[in-house]
Amino acid sequence: MEESILLVGCGNMGSALVRGLCRDHWHKKFRFLLYDAVEEKSAQLAQELKLESVKDMEGISPHFLILAVKPKDVEVAFKIVNKFPQAIILSVVAGVNIHSLTQLFAHGGKIVRLMPNLCVEVGEGVVPISFSDALHSTEKEEILFLLSSLGWVLEVEERYLDYFTVLSGSGPALVALFIEGMMDAGVEMGIPWETSFKVALQTVLGTASLLKDKELHPAYFKNLVASPGGITIAGVRALKRHGFEGIVMEGFREAYKRLVG
Ligand SMILES: NC(=O)c1ccc[n+]([C@@H]2O[C@H](COP(=O)([O-])OP(=O)(O)OC[C@H]3O[C@@H](n4cnc5c(N)ncnc54)[C@H](OP(=O)(O)O)[C@@H]3O)[C@@H](O)[C@H]2O)c1
Repeated sequence: MEESILLVGCGNMGSALVRGLCRDHWHKKFRFLLYDAVEEKSAQLAQELKLESVKDMEGISPHFLILAVKPKDVEVAFKIVNKFPQAIILSVVAGVNIHSLTQLFAHGGKIVRLMPNLCVEVGEGVVPISFSDALHSTEKEEILFLLSSLGWVLEVEERYLDYFTVLSGSGPALVALFIEGMMDAGVEMGIPWETSFKVALQTVLGTASLLKDKELHPAYFKNLVASPGGITIAGVRALKRHGFEGIVMEGFREAYKRLVG
């Protein structure tokens, strides 16, 4: 019988995960079943990706269950999760640890925590992951292979997941803010915003690709671009004068403070 993956919670992250997996054709290997408290959401996503939306859980027995609800909704969602004692639970819920999830899971359970970011939708996510002791090595390998379609998967000790929640989970929003600022700068100079947006995007993409490919330190790369007495170093000075790196660090620090309370 074809194995299935049940998604509980078809919001931003749940949708991004399923889109990313289907982009790499996992829907040809697994039967994807989509469930959301708001039926229209699962129905809409199912229609978009040609998958199945489910209302009741009769007759289904998922191999994997992806839990993608907000932390406040976890306890209620476990009324669904607990119907599937055999399932391996993949939780993306921020701040709810494996111990708490295991307590909620009536069946002891195989629990996996991951902290992806929305870039998984295009296969360019960061996916830190921690496994509960209940998982066998073959199950871990199967999961790592599945998730490798979503981007860079790295197994970490669970205590580090909160750091990644902020750095790679929230990170794309802060990067988007930089892109917006760069786009606005182009518009201010007189470049049409559509062009300026594309220039900002491609510049960030190209910089990231080059640093990644050549394993360059950002400070070293900055020195390659900025010639002595040139225009780039004037821009660098202006950003440094306003404490740019410190401001970026402050953004992540505030996000972390909010996460850990
Ligand atoms: N967004 C990110 O970038 C990101 C990154 C890393 C981790 N996460 C984690 O991913 C989880 C989901 O975040 P999100 O941004 O995707 O939130 P979201 O857009 O609000 O999606 C959650 C979905 O789950 C539904 N839901 C609530 N209770 C449910 C239940 N009992 N059964 C089934 N569905 C239920 C919600 O419906 P309602 O709208 O009616 O509540 C909503 O459609 C969170 O725990 C978050 O910490 C998100």
